[in-house]
Amino acid sequence: MRFADERLRPAVDLAARIDHACPKRVVDLGCGTGNALPVLAARFPEAELIGVDSSPAMLKKANSTGFKTQLADIATWSPPEPVDVIFSNAALQWLPDHQSLFPRLLTCLAPEGILAIQMPAMHNEPVRALQSIVASSGPWSQQLSGVTSAPPILEPAAYYDLLSERVAAIEIWITQYLHLLRGKDPVVKWTMGTSLRPYLDAMRPSDQPEFVAAYSKALRPHYPPRADGTVLLAFRRLFILAKK
Ligand SMILES: C[S@@+](CC[C@H](N)C(=O)[O-])C[C@H]1O[C@@H](n2cnc3c(N)ncnc32)[C@H](O)[C@@H]1O
Repeated sequence: MRFADERLRPAVDLAARIDHACPKRVVDLGCGTGNALPVLAARFPEAELIGVDSSPAMLKKANSTGFKTQLADIATWSPPEPVDVIFSNAALQWLPDHQSLFPRLLTCLAPEGILAIQMPAMHNEPVRALQSIVASSGPWSQQLSGVTSAPPILEPAAYYDLLSERVAAIEIWITQYLHLLRGKDPVVKWTMGTSLRPYLDAMRPSDQPEFVAAYSKALRPHYPPRADGTVLLAFRRLFILAKK
């Protein structure tokens, strides 16, 4: 929630690009605490909107804002009847096997339905690459062996190859956001609730401070503060819009 504005911006950008005249049913897959639900409600005021997530803690927060939610694993989720828009912001990168997941999601759409996806594309960036390097090179390496963050997503062209023959129209683009972060080691704080989480969850709590300190030290040369103390985090995100 610390960087809620920065994390919401791609959801706003994606929702604005969804070209559907009047969707009746809209689903937010991996809705989390429901940050994007008001954006979707404003974009499609006539639609029945539901947020889906596998985390009861996340859904508790989403429910508290009055939106309809469903506890489900996206890997096996399917709607009772076809939906008009499947929206997903920063969630599908956590799921494996996009080769079968994405075509399956298309089958959940009504005619002229739209799949609208945004996923971070950061695997080769220091913020992500250094996590596995630090994880494998400290006293915690045994505890963290085999632990990874979200697996790499496919190349953009692979999503084109996977989806283009199954849909009437497709758009794929990458936007690089330059997030302006402030405070001490803000890039580390950025990762604490997301990509660093699997490592932190897998280690003894007593090892966490030293691990975080080693990761912070490794990151600093890559994200130097500007003269006013602001740190610039260049963050690439892949967008896919596929219309049935
Ligand atoms: C980074 S959060 C994004 C939340 C929200 N879409 C937003 O934009 O604020 C990723 C969400 O995906 C959910 N998630 C991850 N894997 C999932 C799965 N297999 N099934 C359902 N939800 C999943 C997590 O519980 C988390 O709430």
